[in-house]
Amino acid sequence: MPIEVVEFTDDHLQAAAALVAARYGVEIEQEPLLSRRYQHTAETLPFLRRLRSRGPGVAALEDGRLVGFIQGSVSMFKGVQTAYVPDSGHGTDTQNSRNVYRDMYAQLAARWVASGCFVHNISIMAHHRQAMDAFHTLGFGMINIDAIRDFSPGPDSPDGVEIRRAGLRDLDAVVSLETKLGRHLASSAAFLPMLPDPGRRRSVEEQLSNSDEPTWVARYEGATVGFVAIESTGRGPVLARSDDGIMSLVGAFVEPETRSLGVGRALLNIALEWGRSAEYGVCVVDFESANIEGTRFWLGAGFRPVIYSLSRRLDDRIAWATE
Ligand SMILES: CC(C)(COP(=O)(O)OP(=O)(O)OC[C@H]1O[C@@H](n2cnc3c(N)ncnc32)[C@H](O)[C@@H]1OP(=O)(O)O)[C@@H](O)C(=O)NCCC(=O)NCCS
Repeated sequence: MPIEVVEFTDDHLQAAAALVAARYGVEIEQEPLLSRRYQHTAETLPFLRRLRSRGPGVAALEDGRLVGFIQGSVSMFKGVQTAYVPDSGHGTDTQNSRNVYRDMYAQLAARWVASGCFVHNISIMAHHRQAMDAFHTLGFGMINIDAIRDFSPGPDSPDGVEIRRAGLRDLDAVVSLETKLGRHLASSAAFLPMLPDPGRRRSVEEQLSNSDEPTWVARYEGATVGFVAIESTGRGPVLARSDDGIMSLVGAFVEPETRSLGVGRALLNIALEWGRSAEYGVCVVDFESANIEGTRFWLGAGFRPVIYSLSRRLDDRIAWATE
């Protein structure tokens, strides 16, 4: 029976949510730190319902049965019209996942492009090889990794490094370090544009005043040389990061002259110690996969990938150059 790709409708919601839950169940076998709740259709369904109103979707049917779907959202992201499919927005149930994903993308991408959307992003659970393969072969490349770890302690702080909780007295130092982190991400190989942010100082001020979501600074030879900041993760579009009890690391930087001394590990250790005592269940971090230092550091410090996000940026001349 050939597989037919049709527009996604509300009638497909329940079966689609079941595909997401089934995939999630497979991922938990590989990564036991993932929350157990999203193995259940009742928990994945609300994520899909929210996505439904935010852009077109497609369903693959075999003999009337849903064997695949992709449902994304289309919105302005950093000033660019972007289609985004979270891990809760796609799934398959067929031996031939790779080809079904490719067929579904072909139909959906035509809709996105027709509406002037040339940047296509998708988040894929880390062990979903067929999906990764399908999107890589469609011209997608990796941009971001979400990774997870428990709160087991790392090595002790090296001599001469003092870590302390940051307060408003550290405002200038943390603004400066955050700005340097932005510059680092704007440089090779991540090349993430550092857009003007007139609210940066104000947001650091709020961050430092928030006792539930601390920032720590590292002092070495009389100077502030690094920081790490955390947030409590609420519900986002990505299942792997949507649960109570998830502590997110949202920024870390160590001055280049004091790197590889163990300052980063000492900062991470304090954050983990705090998370453990605040009874968080897991710690997550996300980073640009082209951030050489960041990738090496987090994966070296015991974080395991749970989500890979891939991106495809089309040549927008395709809007007119077709014959
Ligand atoms: C990521 C970053 C914070 C790490 O800080 P750091 O202080 O250099 O980290 P550490 O010194 O604790 O660890 C770095 C490496 O040195 C090694 N190291 C630590 N102490 C050491 C010692 N005494 N002797 C030898 N090596 C040591 C660590 O094992 C680690 O090795 P790895 O990279 O192979 O895993 C820093 O590189 C940085 O600011 N990078 C730019 C900003 C950035 O990418 N931030 C992350 C955003 S997502």
